[in-house]
Amino acid sequence: MTSFERDGCAIVVGASGGIGGALVGALSASGTFTSVIALSRRRAVWPHDEGVVSGLIDIADEESIAAAARFAGESGPARLVLVASGVLHDSTGQQPEKSYRALDADAMLHAFRINTVGPALVAKHFLPLLARRGRSVFAALSARVGSIGDNRLGGWYSYRASKAALNMIVRTLAIELARQNPDALCVGLHPGTVDTALSRPFQGAVPAGTLFSPGFAAQRLLAVVDALAPESTGGVFAWDGERVAA
Ligand SMILES: NC(=O)c1ccc[n+]([C@@H]2O[C@H](COP(=O)([O-])OP(=O)(O)OC[C@H]3O[C@@H](n4cnc5c(N)ncnc54)[C@H](OP(=O)(O)O)[C@@H]3O)[C@@H](O)[C@H]2O)c1
Repeated sequence: MTSFERDGCAIVVGASGGIGGALVGALSASGTFTSVIALSRRRAVWPHDEGVVSGLIDIADEESIAAAARFAGESGPARLVLVASGVLHDSTGQQPEKSYRALDADAMLHAFRINTVGPALVAKHFLPLLARRGRSVFAALSARVGSIGDNRLGGWYSYRASKAALNMIVRTLAIELARQNPDALCVGLHPGTVDTALSRPFQGAVPAGTLFSPGFAAQRLLAVVDALAPESTGGVFAWDGERVAA
């Protein structure tokens, strides 16, 4: 990565995930950051990646987020914060809704807690860690299905709506951040369809040749972050650099 000064750390929230883990590996291999802080609900070990520091975070718990930010702050200013956590289905049996008949308040609130409120609270506690001068980026993994204009298929109510709301959080953060830290950018990222636990039950519908490995997605997302122009702040960008419609 060439756009960042080499004097700050990178932070990945959701490092235990398919894309999050690949991002940690790619960031470590890039040699761009003083350290890579890998945060997840269970502490992970990165035996092959030098300079990776593991820590704990539960984005459903603000005190855990605040503690993780204090921990990350010990590594000095951050140049890059990537939020790679998210939920589409989970072990409690939550599945994306095929029909409005399947809507369930608790399941909807869970999707919003993890996909919208969690990243917003991560921003609350981690934006103050961004370097005060020179380029820095806060990016949250969103999804193309969170685009209202792009919604032609329907279904997946909670996931779509929680990502659309995340996109609004990102844009609103970007406006405030521009006033406080003009060199800092805040964006959403769409990784493409990636072979992870999140997409696995739905991969049957993915056209051949369009399912990315986590490693490929991580490389693409970091290339997109590296190429962001200042006026990109507040937008959502796909793995190929294309802006995703609101
Ligand atoms: N895969 C795709 O095709 C695809 C497409 C579009 C967008 N995305 C987005 O990309 C992001 C990463 O997805 P993925 O495919 O890598 O999925 P994944 O492998 O299922 O990873 C999800 C991550 O979110 C973490 N997480 C969930 N709840 C959490 C909580 N309360 N606190 C902290 N971490 C929590 C998980 O932690 P645990 O290990 O502790 O559960 C895991 O690290 C998500 O935002 C997803 O919506 C993915």
